[in-house]
Amino acid sequence: MSLEQKYFTGVVWQDFQHKELMDLFTKLRKARADKQDKDTFRFAIAFLSMYVNHHFKLEEEYMDIYYYPEKESHKKEHKGYVKTLKDFREKHKDYTEAAVDELIKKINQWILDHIFGTDKKLGRHILEAEKAKSGNPIP
Ligand SMILES: [Fe+2]
Ligand SMILES: [Fe+2]
Repeated sequence: MSLEQKYFTGVVWQDFQHKELMDLFTKLRKARADKQDKDTFRFAIAFLSMYVNHHFKLEEEYMDIYYYPEKESHKKEHKGYVKTLKDFREKHKDYTEAAVDELIKKINQWILDHIFGTDKKLGRHILEAEKAKSGNPIP
């Protein structure tokens, strides 16, 4: 299965935003391997703070609009990750190689546990809800 197949749902904004995180992950790993990761680390920290706020908010709006039955547990996972990132920032005020390794692990875990699972489920729900909406006969 290709990487895209693992998370693509067909919900355009969601697939696009998940790809942004995948790209950051790839960039950070490559920079680390090349020992050029100091600036990329700082960029990643700044990007992530902005990204999770914006992305989680949007997913949660859609959960509300389309009465997603699993919204409470999904929102809880978002909250947990915001906290994970906040704790990380407090623990690592400055760049170290160990900090980058830890961040890579944390993003990796999020992609596997949340994006490939929890988010994909949400994506299917949104897609079906939108299909049903557009399929309604016009009175
Ligand atoms: Fe997501
Ligand atoms: Fe999510």
